[in-house]
Amino acid sequence: MSRHFLRDDDLSPAEQHEVLSLAASLKQAPYDSQSLAGPRTVATIYDKPTLRTQASFAAAIAELGGNPMMVDGTLAGIGKRESVADVARVLGRQASVIVWRTFAQTALEEMAEYAGVPVINALTDDFHPCQLLADLLTIRERKGELTGLAVAFVGDGACNMGNSWLLAGATAGLHVRIAAPAGHQPEEQFVARAREIGEQTGATAEVMTDPKAAADGADVVVTDTWVSMGREDEAADRLAAFSGYTVTSDLMSLASSDAIAMHCLPAYRGKEIDSDVLDGPQSVVWDEAENRRHAQKAIITWLLRGAEQTEEGLL
Ligand code: NVA
Repeated sequence: MSRHFLRDDDLSPAEQHEVLSLAASLKQAPYDSQSLAGPRTVATIYDKPTLRTQASFAAAIAELGGNPMMVDGTLAGIGKRESVADVARVLGRQASVIVWRTFAQTALEEMAEYAGVPVINALTDDFHPCQLLADLLTIRERKGELTGLAVAFVGDGACNMGNSWLLAGATAGLHVRIAAPAGHQPEEQFVARAREIGEQTGATAEVMTDPKAAADGADVVVTDTWVSMGREDEAADRLAAFSGYTVTSDLMSLASSDAIAMHCLPAYRGKEIDSDVLDGPQSVVWDEAENRRHAQKAIITWLLRGAEQTEEGLL
């Protein structure tokens, strides 16, 4: 049975630590892992727009000695032209790993059930766990330890990034405060799950409406677009709903004096974040983008090691 990375809490606290340490060491020595030597193929499928994810996976797979196979989500018509299960069974015979950006988390789970190889979530409506690995690596680089740091997530708390911050942050022992307007706060199930993980790690999860309360003394201030992919029809309503939730230099001044500002990108300057913050000295957004490659090399290598150990155990 392959392990998969479908949501942030698929890694235990110890496993997340191991993957982040591997990512940090691969950043120092980029060709030390040749886990895809052969080259072995990784199928990458994008049903939503992409820049960072496609570029960083292609580079990551190449640096691991592998072959990045692009499967055009539109041509494949997964779940429309052919069932998810049938696509999974076909791709699992061609590729050693499947990376998929899509809409429904349940479709990704179905892919994992039938693929026979590790499946990695490259963003769904519910989670963006590869981004969180890159973000946690970025925080580690700036702050050393993760445990006990306070993170303020300001904006659309009900999107994939809000959910992933709750789960990955709890796994890392962070204090995650989500400031979002009513109607855009995370589902209770994700807050409850973060608190459950926090019982082991010391993390806390709080949801509030006031961005200033969230930013107060925070070590990290993070935001994301107010209009996630697939929600373009709601753009006008969202612009109104999130008024007052922009990450401005005034908001940053309430955070710790050495706080960092994060954004997974693409960013809409003047909406969820002001230019002077995004392009200013506290911003670490380009490090986050670079760290996608290192983090994804680590999770691919880690999942393949697990798959090989399982196969050896079966022999
Ligand atoms: N919440 C955003 C993240 C983009 C990387 C979206 O889903 O569009």
